[in-house]
Amino acid sequence: MEDSNYIMPRIGDQAPDFKATTTIGELTLSEYNKDHWVILFSHPADFTPVCTTEMTGFALEKDFFAQHNTKLLGLSIDSIHSHIAWVNAVHEKTGVLFEFPIIADLDMKISKLYGMLQPGESETAAVRAVFIIDPKGKVRLLMYYPLNVGRNMDEIKRALIALQTSDDNKVACPLDWRPGDKVIVPAPKTIEALTERKASDLEMVDWYLAKKSL
Ligand code: BEZ
Repeated sequence: MEDSNYIMPRIGDQAPDFKATTTIGELTLSEYNKDHWVILFSHPADFTPVCTTEMTGFALEKDFFAQHNTKLLGLSIDSIHSHIAWVNAVHEKTGVLFEFPIIADLDMKISKLYGMLQPGESETAAVRAVFIIDPKGKVRLLMYYPLNVGRNMDEIKRALIALQTSDDNKVACPLDWRPGDKVIVPAPKTIEALTERKASDLEMVDWYLAKKSL
């Protein structure tokens, strides 16, 4: 689709900046992002069942995200009054408080800027998008889920740790990698480096695929 209403940021792009009305007040992404990772995620609508389970999942992982220097930022195309009523209702019913800010994107500007509005799925509700944005404001990972399938919190956490581990150690993470598993070291770029690798104690599947423990 060529409609500029529906372009979306790609991996490696600078996350488009915006100012937003949220449940903690006005917020600018670039300021919120300063020195932190940000997970920006959309949900289709307040007071809906799957969304309630997802937002509860994010809220319950508050300590995990804080430990990983990551701030959460929710979004939907609902009003701030709706957000506040929903947050309050869930808190009163379950004791879980959505402390992270939730954007009220009534004019759909941010949803369109981030490709969260996918008209084949819905013209009026954002799909379930997840953007992992690094402290330099770069989009590092995208996930998009339809309205009727909830996201996987375990995978969101795994992907965040994998990105941070990869950055910190200049390595890559293989299929189904979990924290504590071996990581993939970059392939040698010279014959000399290859010779060194052959003599090393790396776990070598082949010269270009070698693993080490961190
Ligand atoms: C839900 O969160 O349950 C939901 C929201 C919008 C459409 C379908 C399901």
